Amino acid sequence: MSLILEGFMGSGKSAVGERLASKLGIPFIDTDREIEERQGCSVADIFSSSGEEAFRQMETSMLYGLYLSEGNAVISLGGGMPVRAANAEIIKKLGKVVYLKAEPEVLISRLEKEAEGRPMLDGYDLGRRVSSLLEERGKYYLDLADIIIDVSWDDIDRICERILEESGL
Ligand code: S3P
Repeated sequence: MSLILEGFMGSGKSAVGERLASKLGIPFIDTDREIEERQGCSVADIFSSSGEEAFRQMETSMLYGLYLSEGNAVISLGGGMPVRAANAEIIKKLGKVVYLKAEPEVLISRLEKEAEGRPMLDGYDLGRRVSSLLEERGKYYLDLADIIIDVSWDDIDRICERILEESGL
């Protein structure tokens, strides 16, 4: 069974996913990194050269590719993926979905240090943008989640332990 990590930018999907995959001895797939490798440029470059819609289509076709390929993995999703109905259908079929949920203040303070290279935040007031995107996306994250883990305060190892406990893996 694959484990799918969803959550807002800054929730730690990539770091947790990588550690979890190494604990489980299965491959780790980060959808942003996969798209960057295939396109030969960064997500920010894709947004600026082709626009958000083109990036969203790349996300959907890469998800579909994952659905067609066999094998278990830990898959970390780009923060916007659960919002599209077509993606949500595929995500549900891929495996168990873990929502890494964090307090807005925690996300904002992490993203203050990591805003660069994140086109969805570029040029906005960070606090307001995070609050409004979270408001818009919260229900999609919750609808898809099989397991919800509050990642606001624990370190990566403890978060992994909790995911393993709750998923029964
Ligand atoms: C996005 C999140 C990013 C990346 C892109 C869009 C979003 O991924 O897919 O910049 O819409 O929330 P991370 O959540 O891994 O930062």
